[in-house]
Amino acid sequence: MRPLVATIDLSAIVHNYAVAKRCAPGRQAFAVVKANAYGHGVREVVTALFDVADGFAVASLEEAAEVRALHADARILLLEGCFEALEYQFAAQLGLDVVLHSEQQALQLLDASLLRPLNVWLKLDSGMHRLGFSSAGLRECYGRLQGAAQVAELNLLSHFACADERGSEVTELQLEGFLDLLDLDFVQRSLANSAAILTIPAAHMDWLRPGIMLYGATPFADLHAAELGLLPAMSLTAQLIACRHIAAGEGVGYGGSWRAERASRIGTVSCGYADGYPRHAPAGTPVVVQGQRVPLVGRVSMDMLTVDLTDLPAAVEGAAVELWGTQLPVDEVAQAAGTIGYELLSKVTARVPRRYQC
Ligand SMILES: Cc1ncc(COP(=O)(O)O)c(C=O)c1O
Repeated sequence: MRPLVATIDLSAIVHNYAVAKRCAPGRQAFAVVKANAYGHGVREVVTALFDVADGFAVASLEEAAEVRALHADARILLLEGCFEALEYQFAAQLGLDVVLHSEQQALQLLDASLLRPLNVWLKLDSGMHRLGFSSAGLRECYGRLQGAAQVAELNLLSHFACADERGSEVTELQLEGFLDLLDLDFVQRSLANSAAILTIPAAHMDWLRPGIMLYGATPFADLHAAELGLLPAMSLTAQLIACRHIAAGEGVGYGGSWRAERASRIGTVSCGYADGYPRHAPAGTPVVVQGQRVPLVGRVSMDMLTVDLTDLPAAVEGAAVELWGTQLPVDEVAQAAGTIGYELLSKVTARVPRRYQC
C-alpha cells in the first residue's frame, strides 16, 4: 500500500469545540463542517461531535442532507441559503435553518409552500461585500417576513472580513453595523467565526460559528494554534521511498529548477500535489523526517516530493515523514507556501486514506 495517510484525531476536534465554547460561556455553537469538515470527513466529525455540538453549519443542501442523515435532531445552518426556489421545500423537510442573503431568496421563500416553517437567518452585508442585505434592505425584509407562514424564528447573521487581523477598523465597523440592527426583535443572533470567537468577546452574540479552530489550525498570521490552546486534528504522514547522493551543481525534480550548492543527499517522499500538497511550495518549506525538520527541494510532483537529507544522514528509505500535523503545524507549511491552513486541509484529496483516532 502506498505509504501516505491522513490521520484524524477526533478527540482533538472535540477538545477544540470545547475551547470555542469556553471562550463564550452560555452561547451556543454551530460546528462548521462544510467542505467535508474542512477535509477531515464530515461523517466522522459529526459523529464525534454528536453529543456535544449544539448544531452544524454547511454550504449546501447536499451537505445538509448528509449531516441530517447522521443526526436527526441537530440544528443545521445552511450558510449560503438555497440556490433555487425548489430547495426551500427540501430545506423544510430536512428541518434546516436557512440564511437569506438577497431579496430574491426572500421572495422565493415567501412563494414556497412548506411542510413546516423554517428558522430564517437574515444575513447583513456588514462590510465584506460578498453576500447579504444592506442595513436598510434587511430592515425592509424583516418587515416582510415577520409573521409569514414560512418563517419560524427570524434571526440575524453576518460574517467578518478581517477578524483575523487583530484591531482591524473594518471589524469595528462591521460590529457597529450589526449592533445597529438589534432594535429589531430577532430571536437569535450570530456573528463570530473562529477569529472572533478567540479574540472579540463583543461579537459572540447567541450562536458562534467555529470552523478552522475546530481542526486545530489558527485563523491568525501572528498567533499560533498552540498558543490558542488548539490541538491539531490532521497529521498527513508519508515515508521516504528513495534516497540518493548527488554532486554539487546537479538539479532535482522537474525542470531541474533546484540545484545543489554542495554534494547532497536527496530523499523522495510519497506525497505530491495530487494528494493535496501545494505544488507551489518553495524550496525550504519544512518537512519532518524522522522527527527532524528538513527542507523541501525541487518542484513538487504529482505523487512525490523531494527533500534535502544532507544534514540528516540517519534518515534512510522507509523513514517516517510528516508533511504537517502534530510535529509541524499546518499553518507553518501554509505560510511557507503562501496560503492558509484552510486551503491545505480542505484540499487533501480523496485518494489519501483517512485513518481515525478517538
Ligand atoms: C458564513 C461563515 N461562517 C463561519 C465560517 C467559519 O469560519 P472560520 O473557519 O474562520 O472559523 C465560515 C467559513 O468560511 C463562513 O463562511
